[in-house]
Parts: sequence; structure tokens; C-alpha cells
Amino acid sequence: MKGVLGLVVLISLVFACSQSESKKPDNGRAAPQRKMAEVSELAALMKQIHIDAKDWRQQLLGGEVVSDSLSIYNLLVNSTPTDSTVTGPVYRGMAANYQSKLNDFLTAKEIDLAKSSYNNLVTACVSCHHEYCPGPVPTIKKLYLK
Ligand code: HEC
Repeated sequence: MKGVLGLVVLISLVFACSQSESKKPDNGRAAPQRKMAEVSELAALMKQIHIDAKDWRQQLLGGEVVSDSLSIYNLLVNSTPTDSTVTGPVYRGMAANYQSKLNDFLTAKEIDLAKSSYNNLVTACVSCHHEYCPGPVPTIKKLYLK
């Protein structure tokens, strides 16, 4: 039984980090319990920050500057990942870089600066993903503003 569960986790890891989301198989019929086991804390956090980034993109497209203050570094480094090797000084450096780009973006007062700092934020997503989770990179790149 444990072996089977391990396999399920392994397969979901491969899907999450090696394929874009749209290619995920439809697991709508999976039992709720199993579905929960497939989403790590970090993956759930990622879904949320992906939604936030899409919202910010829409606001910027509408000419609106986003001002807020968000601390995400601790969540990035303390949420349990699917793959336990997602940790260590390089990972923490990527997380710190993301927080720093987030601060720049959320404090930019002028729309052109907000847009360029938003694009730098997306680059911080992409850098960490190149290193730790390449699958979603094409999806993340769609967040860039022209
Ligand atoms: C510090 C590193 C890091 C940063 C920064 C980062 N990610 Fe991730 N992301 C990961 C890792 C690692 C995973 C795999 C999570 C897991 O399965 O536990 C992941 C998973 C994801 C997933 C897949 C979630 C799923 O359904 O399994 C998406 C989508 C995603 N990230 C989008 C983003 C976006 C958008 C940003 C920037 C706004 C971002 N990420 C910033 C490391 C990072």
C-alpha cells in the first residue's frame, strides 16, 4: 500500500514539474483523499501566487498600479514541497530574490515602473523554476507584459 502511494506522489511530481498544467490528465474522478495527497503545501502556495500574478497583470493592463505589502519568503522556504530536495541555500536565494522583486513591484508608484518591476518579478519565478521545476516555465512566461 505504501509503495502505491509513493508511486502516486512520484507521478504527480513528474506531472507538476515536467509538464505544463494543461497537459495534466483529468483526475476529476480521483477520491478526494488522494487528490489532497497529490498537492503539496508548496504546490498549493504556487497555485495561489500564480492567481495573484494573473490578477496583477490584468490590473496593470487596465493602467492600475498595485500597491500592497506581502511577505512570502517564509512561506516559500517553509512550505513542504512535493520533492524534498527543493531546499538549501540556492533555493533560499531564489526565494529571497522573489521577495525582493515583489517588494519593488508592490511599492512602484508609477505605471511604467510598475510594469517593468512586474516583468522582473516574472523573471524571478522563471529563474527558480529553471532550477527546481521546469515544467510550468512556458505557462509562467505567458505572464510577461509586452
Ligand atoms: C523559490 C522558487 C520558486 C519561485 C520564486 C516560484 N516558484 Fe513556482 N514552483 C516552485 C516549485 C519548487 C514548485 C513545485 C511545487 C511542488 O510540487 O511541491 C513550483 C510549482 C509551481 C506551479 C505548479 C503548481 C501545481 O499545480 O503543482 C506553478 C503554476 C508555479 N509554480 C507558478 C509560479 C509563478 C507564477 C511564480 C511567480 C509569480 C512562481 N511559481 C515562483 C518554485 C518556485
